[in-house]
Amino acid sequence: MKPLQVGLLGIGTVGSGTWNVLSRNQEEITRRAGRGIEIAVVADKDEARARQVVGDKARISADAFAVVRDPSIDIVVELIGGYSVAKDLVLAAIESGKHVVTANKALLATHGTEIFAAAQRKGVMVGFEAAVAGGIPIIKALREGLTANRIEWIAGIINGTSNFILSEMRAKGLAFDAVLKQAQALGFAEADPTFDIEGVDAAHKLTILSAIAFGIPMQFDKCYREGISALTREDIQYAEELGYRIKLLGITRRAEVDGKAGIELRVHPTLIPASRLIANVEGVMNAVLVKGDAVGATLYYGAGAGAEPTASAVVADLVDITRMHTADPENRVPHLAFQPDRMAATPILAMEDVTTSYYLRMRVQDRPGVLADITRILADGTISIDAMVQKEPAEGEELVDIILLTHETRERNINAAMAKIEALPVVSGRITRIRLEQLGRQ
Ligand code: HSE
Repeated sequence: MKPLQVGLLGIGTVGSGTWNVLSRNQEEITRRAGRGIEIAVVADKDEARARQVVGDKARISADAFAVVRDPSIDIVVELIGGYSVAKDLVLAAIESGKHVVTANKALLATHGTEIFAAAQRKGVMVGFEAAVAGGIPIIKALREGLTANRIEWIAGIINGTSNFILSEMRAKGLAFDAVLKQAQALGFAEADPTFDIEGVDAAHKLTILSAIAFGIPMQFDKCYREGISALTREDIQYAEELGYRIKLLGITRRAEVDGKAGIELRVHPTLIPASRLIANVEGVMNAVLVKGDAVGATLYYGAGAGAEPTASAVVADLVDITRMHTADPENRVPHLAFQPDRMAATPILAMEDVTTSYYLRMRVQDRPGVLADITRILADGTISIDAMVQKEPAEGEELVDIILLTHETRERNINAAMAKIEALPVVSGRITRIRLEQLGRQ
């Protein structure tokens, strides 16, 4: 039987990885898929680069739109990235009745609803394993392996660049800016690293995970986002002294607020106990912790980026499509794990309604009654203190750092208490507030 014909759009890092993995493991992949998978045409603006990778083994085109409309192509792999052209290409491929594989989390998190609806109308599949956590098969795990479970929560390190920066800041006691420069020099962080360090990339991925876990539409615009650029090495050090690590986590959780169900969807720096497995995920690696009611906590770890790890996910989708393309569309695994007409309308909670614990650091004058004033404000706000440390003042300094860890409370309570504490004349400047999660047993 003729191999399924693939049109590859974009032959940069992941595209080259996909070409290499498919070529190298062709025999194994064909034995698994039951039919060959062949990249017949590659579209890239840089035709010379494409030629260098594929030699004379595939056609090269500078016109990606011609590829998505080419009747000889069965599957389009979109590795161009970005929103606008990628969206037009993916929708045009679907309209032409082609299956699509994409690594584009930004596109899916923002336009996924429209793309999946179009795919359903045309009876084609859109594979996106590579869009979340690179080579970790987390989409497969959530959509199929954990399908018996009511998912309770997910907490993930899903941006390698920011995890690298935090790991280096902790291990070497360096400041954020210094490590960011190092990451850029090493090629981890983009020249414009905003998406990585301000939590946008993680929020894209979390939005997709949340939709699959809870059967809700993707709502990237409702995802709360706070990055790592304001974190100081002092906070990382203080957290360490208290037995915690700071990680940029994407957290999504079922919750109940005032008797009503809601979903938490948030990306922010988070203190987690240093003893947890996920706290020890260092460097550019990713890890996703999923809590299901039947299975308990499960942890998925691996490379979240890079040519061949991401290609591993792209090729897995190609194999899935090859196995399933002749099946009745009704019998395929739904894109977001739940049948499209059974999606829930559970709202995403406002951050003020999220319940968690907090690390608070404040600079205060070192004199009698200061702590009493602060703890009175917390007590009045029904906020319970879990731990407290007062640091020695530096030589000749009148101000000292106080670090407080709270028990769980609603974010609106902590906001109100922080405003009152900051208004005290003995407190200097703003309070540093970092959320803290215990993440249960692993
Ligand atoms: N820029 C991402 C990261 C990799 O640093 O994890 C691609 O999703």
